[in-house]
Amino acid sequence: MSGAQRRSVILGTGSELPAKVVTNGDLEKMVDTSDEWITVRTGIKERRVLEEGKGNADMAYHAAKRALDDAGIKAKDLDAIIMATCTADYLMPSSACVLEDMLEARKAFSFDVNAACSGFLNALSVADSFIRTGQIGNALVVGSDALSRLLNWQDRTTCILFGDGAGAVVLGASENGHGGILSTKLRTDGSYAKTLYVPAGGSLKPARLETVRNNEHTITMNGKEVFKVAVRSMEEISRQALEEAGVKIEQVSLVIPHQANRRIIVALADRLGISMDKVVVNVEKYGNTSAASVPVALDEARRQGRIHKGDIVLLNAFGAGFAWGAAVVQF
Ligand code: UT7
Repeated sequence: MSGAQRRSVILGTGSELPAKVVTNGDLEKMVDTSDEWITVRTGIKERRVLEEGKGNADMAYHAAKRALDDAGIKAKDLDAIIMATCTADYLMPSSACVLEDMLEARKAFSFDVNAACSGFLNALSVADSFIRTGQIGNALVVGSDALSRLLNWQDRTTCILFGDGAGAVVLGASENGHGGILSTKLRTDGSYAKTLYVPAGGSLKPARLETVRNNEHTITMNGKEVFKVAVRSMEEISRQALEEAGVKIEQVSLVIPHQANRRIIVALADRLGISMDKVVVNVEKYGNTSAASVPVALDEARRQGRIHKGDIVLLNAFGAGFAWGAAVVQF
């Protein structure tokens, strides 16, 4: 019996961003927008776009390899691969299966989790539960998305916001009861399903010539509504995750929020009463990379030396569904 003290710990992190950079200046040539508008309203200056002929799992693979190296764990010893994505390589099987094959992680069971931008928090929470209950000893948790594939590059209200990328963490088990994942909290409100969605390509409206002509395979969003609910929801769930972990906001060394819009992040920090020097922001470089945004920012923060042993870090995310979540992790 592993007992109540068993916890998941983050053993390693990794990330991968495609090489192709699309700047605000590039977008000025495609739609009626300006670098100034995009910068002021979102904080985004550029984003990465996955090259044609590559799929989501290609990015995930490189992020996963880096996380495994960092953790000192071999892919063949992985018990599980849980991949958060809403842009899987295929409608089926899951991208986690594609990744399992690329990594030759033959012992691992693998599946995708789709909670859009919030997906990494969901995948982390699922993996954490498997570990805490003793079903598995380790897991690779990946957040990887290529939202560029779902963009209408003529729609200035969406095409300026998103980018592609992948982030990964390797979780292991600790029996000493110190640190690790202290809490995870998840929520959804499906009444907002059509506030941010891709209308066609699923079972309700499968791909047809007409759906392609009508651009129904691309992201449709009411940005103002997303903005409003995102700030409120991320604050609320962050407070709930902190309470469950028994951690006060003053004890948090770093907040790693979903990177959708700098204004959302600043508003959230303000509501949480935490200064911006304790908040990781990289949205200017990558835009909104959906499920990849939190693990990419986490990996960058670790590699920049912003996270030390014993530090308590608050992760939170919000996206289509609406689905949102938070986690409190001690390193
Ligand atoms: O993971 C969650 C994913 N989604 C999000 O995070 C989205 C959250 N929402 C947002 O980030 C913001 O709502 C946006 C950045 C999408 C939009 O900012 P906003 O301050 O809410 O602007 P708005 O939608 O109210 O638009 C203001 C004006 C409009 O023109 P009029 O009606 O005032 O004449 C828009 O048509 O700006 C116009 N506009 C643009 N102008 C130049 C909208 N997009 C653009 C653009 N360039 N790209």
